[in-house]
Amino acid sequence: MNIGLIGSGGREHALCKKISESKLVKRIICFPGNAGTSELATNVKVNILDFKKILKLIRSYKIDLVVVGPEEPLVMGIVNFLKQNKVKVFGPNKYASKLEGSKAFMKKICAQNKIPTAKFKICKQINHVKEFLYNCDFPIVVKADGLAAGKGVTICKSRKQVLKTSKEIFKGKFKSSKKLILEEFLIGEEASYFIIVDNNHFKFFGTAQDHKRVYEDDKGPNTGGMGAYSPATIVTKPIEKKIINRIIIPTLKALKRKEQSYNGFLYVGLMIKNNEPYLIEYNIRMGDPECQVILPRLKTDLVKILKYAISNKLRKVEIKWKKEKSMTIVVCSQGYPGKYKKNLPIRNMSKLNLTKKDFIFHAGTYFSNNELRSHGGRVLNFTSIGNKFKDIRQKILSNIRKLNWSKGFYRRDIGWKVINKNENN
Ligand code: AMP
Ligand code: GLY
Repeated sequence: MNIGLIGSGGREHALCKKISESKLVKRIICFPGNAGTSELATNVKVNILDFKKILKLIRSYKIDLVVVGPEEPLVMGIVNFLKQNKVKVFGPNKYASKLEGSKAFMKKICAQNKIPTAKFKICKQINHVKEFLYNCDFPIVVKADGLAAGKGVTICKSRKQVLKTSKEIFKGKFKSSKKLILEEFLIGEEASYFIIVDNNHFKFFGTAQDHKRVYEDDKGPNTGGMGAYSPATIVTKPIEKKIINRIIIPTLKALKRKEQSYNGFLYVGLMIKNNEPYLIEYNIRMGDPECQVILPRLKTDLVKILKYAISNKLRKVEIKWKKEKSMTIVVCSQGYPGKYKKNLPIRNMSKLNLTKKDFIFHAGTYFSNNELRSHGGRVLNFTSIGNKFKDIRQKILSNIRKLNWSKGFYRRDIGWKVINKNENN
């Protein structure tokens, strides 16, 4: 098979690597990919929102199956477009993608189906916000309704801050929508639970805990994710049952009732409070860096799984996982998530002595005259697998030190919750 892979981040490099390991695959074409994918696949430069151009390329490269990594093309309806043009594609359709594309849509599904989530109000004008503020405790979470590249959530400590943040959203700070959601602030521990879904069935696809804040000790602004570990030990069997029965099944049924069954990866973002899971967000894709930390633990051929999923036969495939644990630490360009320099050379890659249990997934990188350079905020993902999180982290940190990239920075405390809790982790 020829596989087309849309996206250019660490998630897509991790997907590309797993796809390249499949016996079913002849060739991979990445739209547009990064320096890492260029070593496994053919990278083709294209705007991932230019669906017509992508369709032409899919036809010219004789692609049998398209896998969509990031949320934006999914929310814009790439799956509907490609299916209308008889292209096989793995991912949710435009309607189901509103689970991530509109927080108001997601919250309405929660309310209609009694799915546990933070109390909320959908606001279209400032008076709605003021009404909510009459009777609430602080902090209050203000969320832009539409896609906001990870920047749409503000935790507000005062009425004044809520009003200021809300006014900015109503004025169109985020182009995707002028609505907002006010939410009760939940205190607990976050975890991400993943499934793969077809019209009839869904299967477990790993757990992880991301670290969103930019600095150690979970300080500083939110980022796309500075590192993660898998499995997320906080998701015990009893909690998993609640996630499935109270959150996942009611959501999938609600979409099915609308004749808009979910297909694809589904990322269930949770807050666990007193052993009770609350839905914080849905993402309609694998996470980044969660994909980089989960996929190295997958034993089953990923392309085989995807083939079963697109023909609605997921029930028939057994998805096996390694017992080993996994961790990813993201190396970022200095200044991220604010302004950072681009086109910085990354040398010393050849000094890294990687074993079969170590992986480097590129994110914002490209080759210029055979020299590796950065062009994104999150640049490289160092993943290793092993038996203890503490040892895995030490190994990753020693690899990053060997890279000795003076223009980069990273967190040395990924996994602190699980490592501090129990030395045997
Ligand atoms: P979201 O984009 O909805 O996942 O929000 C981004 C981050 O904001 C989450 O990963 C949480 O850390 C935080 N967050 C969002 N909603 C809440 C909430 N209701 N209570 C506490 N923290 C939240
Ligand atoms: N790491 C968070 C996300 O992928 O949305």
